[in-house]
Amino acid sequence: MLVFENVSLKPYNTFGVDVSADRLLELRTGGEVDSFLASGFDAGSCLILGSGANILFTGDFHGTVARIATKGIREISRQDGRVLLEVAAGEVWDDFVRHCVAQGYYGVENLALIPAQVGGAVVQNIGAYGCEVKDVVSSVRAVCLKSGEERSFSREECGFGYRTSLFKRHRGEYMVRSVLFSLSLEPLFHTEYGDVAERLRQRGGTTISSVYEVVSEIRREKLPDVKVLGSAGSFFRNPVVPDGKWQELHAAFPQLKGFPEGDGVKLSAAQLIDSLGWKGYRCGDAGVHVRQALVLVNYGRATGGEILQLACDIRDSVEQRYGMRLEEEVIII
Ligand code: EPU
Repeated sequence: MLVFENVSLKPYNTFGVDVSADRLLELRTGGEVDSFLASGFDAGSCLILGSGANILFTGDFHGTVARIATKGIREISRQDGRVLLEVAAGEVWDDFVRHCVAQGYYGVENLALIPAQVGGAVVQNIGAYGCEVKDVVSSVRAVCLKSGEERSFSREECGFGYRTSLFKRHRGEYMVRSVLFSLSLEPLFHTEYGDVAERLRQRGGTTISSVYEVVSEIRREKLPDVKVLGSAGSFFRNPVVPDGKWQELHAAFPQLKGFPEGDGVKLSAAQLIDSLGWKGYRCGDAGVHVRQALVLVNYGRATGGEILQLACDIRDSVEQRYGMRLEEEVIII
């Protein structure tokens, strides 16, 4: 296990915020995870970190950061047209997706190029272009950090929701160790989101690779490459409002888009923010991305506090105009 004391977390969060941690442990094997779990660490002052792609640090972290860097993709079984894969929490999400695309395992190609590790992908129930990770999760192996109990959680027990799960709702209580994915061996495409189908038509057909490429192309056009420009993807969730509120909003602002979602209507947070002129706004090194108003960016030296201040200003302005409060998707520490 690699151990660092008083270390900068800048390379460990995609916002690129320069804060420090008292201690950083890098857990690269199952054995190192076991040693860490047996070490009598204080769960209250410990942060389990994956790729740091959905986190905003607003100050130094006075405790231990345990970074999960375990690797491994193992085939467990094949039956009824599906393959079951066990994947270590520390696998880079896009490496896993590319593995599936190369092998012809269908179900994650729409989730191309998302900055994440497999564990974080499940905690956050990542989603894009009409698919969510929960659609292909069979079960999750996780440890309760308080009791030390390790067990498998069925998909139902994971309590997945829009960009959330049991593990996110009980932040700090669990460490995901591995995930069992169930993927289809038969083609099964979801191409109805945005202009995915049209782009596939222009490319001459829908295959697992062409879906991966089209989604990657759209992402590259709209979203910043976190290696070049710090960000954590969408900063806020898309709000879901009751039907009555939607009718009211739609009457006052007919240009607003709404999509049916459960009992209510999901609005586009990007559209709300964009409509107030925030896209491309910059204050110091904290800004709103020039092509996606839902994405806050760090041009270099922004602090977590400055990015958070910008998020609060955006939230207030949306609340003032539209009478609803945006909720963060990003975890703020
Ligand atoms: N739009 C604007 N202004 C903008 C950007 C978008 O008005 O600056 C409008 C577009 O016209 C479009 C609508 O907003 O009709 C939706 O935009 P987009 O397709 O980019 O999706 P989104 O709802 O803003 C969500 C996810 C993204 C995911 C995309 C694609 C959330 C919070 N975000 O964004 O996920 O990649 O859909 O499926 O659900 C993430 O979670 O970090 C993330 C990037």
